[in-house]
Amino acid sequence: MTERIQAPRGTFDVLPDDAAARAVVEREARRILEAAGYGRIETPSFEATELFARGVGEATDIVQKEMYSFDDGGGRSLTLRPEGTAPVCRAYVEHGMHKLPQPVRLWYLSSFFRHERAQAGRYRQFWQVGAEAIGSDDPAVDAEVILLLAELLDALTVRGLRLRLSSLGSPGVRAEYREELRAYLRQHADRLSSEARGRIDLNPLRAFDATDPATREVMAGAPLLLDRLSGDDAEHFAQVRELLDRADIAYDVDPTLVRGLDYYTRTVFEFESAALGAQSGVGGGGRYDGLVEALGGPPAPGTGWAAGVERILLAAGAPPTAPPPVDLYVAYVGDEQRAEAFALTGAARRAGLRAQLELAGRLRGRADG
Ligand code: HAM
Repeated sequence: MTERIQAPRGTFDVLPDDAAARAVVEREARRILEAAGYGRIETPSFEATELFARGVGEATDIVQKEMYSFDDGGGRSLTLRPEGTAPVCRAYVEHGMHKLPQPVRLWYLSSFFRHERAQAGRYRQFWQVGAEAIGSDDPAVDAEVILLLAELLDALTVRGLRLRLSSLGSPGVRAEYREELRAYLRQHADRLSSEARGRIDLNPLRAFDATDPATREVMAGAPLLLDRLSGDDAEHFAQVRELLDRADIAYDVDPTLVRGLDYYTRTVFEFESAALGAQSGVGGGGRYDGLVEALGGPPAPGTGWAAGVERILLAAGAPPTAPPPVDLYVAYVGDEQRAEAFALTGAARRAGLRAQLELAGRLRGRADG
């Protein structure tokens, strides 16, 4: 027998039953985000590799080992997009959106690609719904995007949510802090896992993510970036928190929150769901005040988030599975009626009815027999 070809590891088919639940995610995202002034944007599935190397950061796991990159045949390296923020910022610059009233608010629902170890809730092609507000450094924009994500997750009945919130300050302060943390980690290197030790130079903050007990013990005494913020950054963070308090959004300030992308400045956040396993992050984001400029654009601070569609559905209550209603069902008896039934169904659809034609020939056999 000929060998069966299967979908690649870490990918999945969206079958009609799944599509119904996914349509609800799209409908609710459109309803909530468009009411708040967000317009839909879709960028290409692949971009110049340089966009992610520069945008997401050379030191990140995403750029180091998770990108599907290929030569376009003309010596140029392209990459299937691993995330949406850098592409949206590229589009903002390319289309001169800095000339529009700011902030420019954009949302997307697209598929993304990361060469990760596949497991429940973690795929190599997955979908994200995301929102970006570019062109304002007002803490009210940070609070608003968090509010919108909370509203979306609530509308989609995502269970067991917890919001983690922190601030990374400005790049200068972070660079100084990173040095301080490196020195601390080197001091305690003998108690760190080999993984954490190997990351001291490239990405010391990742040690806060460690699961190894000895490493966690070391990290419990580590200096925290949140204690090193400049006056302006601390004030910005205080205002974000105050606005969230006013909106009755519960959160935990968590100075150990590490996001896997390097473009963040100031506010970072993540919604986790207790209904998920190890991959508990449902959606996250933060502020990226230097990204647009790093991509060759004008200075334009931004903030936003993305949430995984598959994780939303895994963490949500029972998805709606009712099939779409039918107004008219056309069946026919005998082949001589087929053309007429076919024409009638078409006419009914043109008149605005949800009409379905009997395709399995169930009644036809009865007339013949
Ligand atoms: P991220 O945290 O890398 O952020 O991804 C956002 C969400 O996408 C995650 O919380 C998770 O639900 C989902 N996700 C990520 N990787 C996978 C995977 N392999 N399989 C299934 N779901 C996954 C970003 O991508 C940023 N661009 C978010 C952002 C927007 N920051 C500012 N603006």
